[in-house]
Amino acid sequence: MHQRRVFPVTSGAETERLFAKNKNEAAPESGLGEAALAALAGVIAHSRAQNGRFFGYVQGSAEPVAALGDFVASVLNQNMTAWRSAPAGVTIERTVVRWLAEAIGCRRFTGTLTGGGSAANLMALAMARESRVPANDRGMFGSNEAKAVIYASEQAHMSIPKAVAMLGICRENLRYIHCDDAYRMLPSALDRAIAEDKSRGRKPIAVVASAGTVNTGSIDPLMEIAEIAHAQDLWLHVDGAYGALAALAVPEKFRGLSEADSISLDPHKWLFQPLDCGCLLYRDPEIARKTFTHTGTYAKQLSSDPIEGFAFFEESPELSRRFRALKIWLSVRFHGLQAFRDAIRLNLDQAQHLAAAVRSRAELEVVGPVELSAVCFRHLVSDQATEQQRNQFNLALLKKIVSRGNVYLSNAELKGKFCLRACIVNHLTTDADIDGVVPEVLANASEVVE
Ligand SMILES: Cc1ncc(COP(=O)(O)O)c(C=O)c1O
Repeated sequence: MHQRRVFPVTSGAETERLFAKNKNEAAPESGLGEAALAALAGVIAHSRAQNGRFFGYVQGSAEPVAALGDFVASVLNQNMTAWRSAPAGVTIERTVVRWLAEAIGCRRFTGTLTGGGSAANLMALAMARESRVPANDRGMFGSNEAKAVIYASEQAHMSIPKAVAMLGICRENLRYIHCDDAYRMLPSALDRAIAEDKSRGRKPIAVVASAGTVNTGSIDPLMEIAEIAHAQDLWLHVDGAYGALAALAVPEKFRGLSEADSISLDPHKWLFQPLDCGCLLYRDPEIARKTFTHTGTYAKQLSSDPIEGFAFFEESPELSRRFRALKIWLSVRFHGLQAFRDAIRLNLDQAQHLAAAVRSRAELEVVGPVELSAVCFRHLVSDQATEQQRNQFNLALLKKIVSRGNVYLSNAELKGKFCLRACIVNHLTTDADIDGVVPEVLANASEVVE
């Protein structure tokens, strides 16, 4: 199967030559007409095409009915500021958010669609800050605010330290909590860290749990963490950008999710939607309004009707927003939620299948757990190889695999081990695609040895 190259093998120099010929070149003054459209073929040829053998990062292929919805959304050009600007659109977004909340077992939550999980995490931590150490008016310089501390596991996504920095809480006040061997936050370590901070006069304000870590898809013990958060009056945010939508298929893995104050999830990951589409769910819209409302007189609400008077900009940092909900609305109505549930379950099974194929080869090893659909593994090189040699070999191997273009993998570093990583959140992935991964890795490995 791997005779056919499915990803363009391009270089920075090549894309510069094609799309940035002359760095000083200004935008064309007169229209290029048909030639501009013809140039789209080159853009497509140098894009990472949609197919089932893309296993990098946490990214799948865009589902075509959803892509049609996205196209219609662009043509309609509705602005999701408030009901008065986009009556159907705003109502559909509120509906879709409710569907998403219900689908993952969080019926009472409301929320908003975002550009992605990073934006949703930033919003969530802004709400956490405003609910525990209000700083919107006077900043983070008061006695309590300056002592605020947030907790996340050492496997937390990079968007968490970024958010903490942007919110003025500062990265020094983000505590990374140790994990167990399955890369899940240790509640006992969280408890200890909170007690230690309190004894030093600090103010713990929030804990971020992961429902699917970016490296291994590990799910923190949500119930235990929720108990600690409730007992300590901490805001509980669950970063489910990668994993939370798997609760459609395996809800038993996500016990405790509905105990959160806020949850990030990404329909542009495991609901197969075209980029971009993230979502932040929250339990209490009042806190969203407290955090984000600052309405100019030009946008003052003229209607007291709860539907017609609804404004997303009072619960979000954004004013103008695209009609992201249409793609979800159309594709879920077209296929039915069960089709998405089945596709997620298939990806989960495919990950186990891949892990078994890796384990069946003595020269390969699975590294870490396969909790959801991410499989981290590496080539052992030889019995005598040092960890450093293995790391170097696997780095070279990954570069070779990507440069051949038959399958796309990315990497993860687990306890100092450089791993190849395949993450399956792709409705186009077939069992044959999965069966092809190990032979492709081994074929490339023999070339790296040479
Ligand atoms: C666990 C986790 N959180 C947050 C994000 C960020 O999501 P986005 O890329 O949509 O901003 C990712 C992305 O992979 C992720 O895996």
